[in-house]
Amino acid sequence: MSSSFYLPEEVTCNDESFKVFITKEQLEERLSQLGNQLNKEFEGKKPIFIGVLNGAFIFLADIMRHVSISCEVDFMKLSSYGDEKVSSGKVTELKHIDAKIEGRHIILVEDIVDTGLSMNYLVENVKKYNPESVSVLTLLHKKEATKYDVQLDYVGFEIPDAFVLGYGLDYAQEGRNLAQIYVLDDA
Ligand code: IMP
Repeated sequence: MSSSFYLPEEVTCNDESFKVFITKEQLEERLSQLGNQLNKEFEGKKPIFIGVLNGAFIFLADIMRHVSISCEVDFMKLSSYGDEKVSSGKVTELKHIDAKIEGRHIILVEDIVDTGLSMNYLVENVKKYNPESVSVLTLLHKKEATKYDVQLDYVGFEIPDAFVLGYGLDYAQEGRNLAQIYVLDDA
């Protein structure tokens, strides 16, 4: 592993303390497993990976390095938590999907599924364009916090209902550049 990655044991972000939760090694191992699974299950199907901005940008980039089948990549953007640590309960589409979805195998890529509101909205929205199939790939899932009915096909890690940071995930837009995942240290 390169020492140039930003890998502190503890970080302060917007005056709150966070400690390491999922290490870079654990992320790399799990991404390799997920990549192998996707390569087998989507062989010959030329899926379109659609990353949900901003949070999924690092996860999508890294999972692509483990995907060896023919595929396409696109992005869309939903409203975020704003500067808060809890969901506003509303979803707004800020950037639409450019790719033509009809008849294609779609893989929606999220950093985290929390209440499930965003993913529930996304799956329903994408289905309106008559894709051949819709699958969901999320790096993290807060099972206990999920209130909406969500289809999760590929999950990197099931995590408790705690606020996490890094590897694309932000707290008031900061901390996305951390190379591993941190959890709020409220002890
Ligand atoms: P949901 O709609 O409640 O499932 O929330 C999904 C979105 O909320 C994710 O794409 C993240 O942007 C954000 N989010 C949820 N939990 C966290 C967290 O622990 N840290 C940072 N962002 C989070």
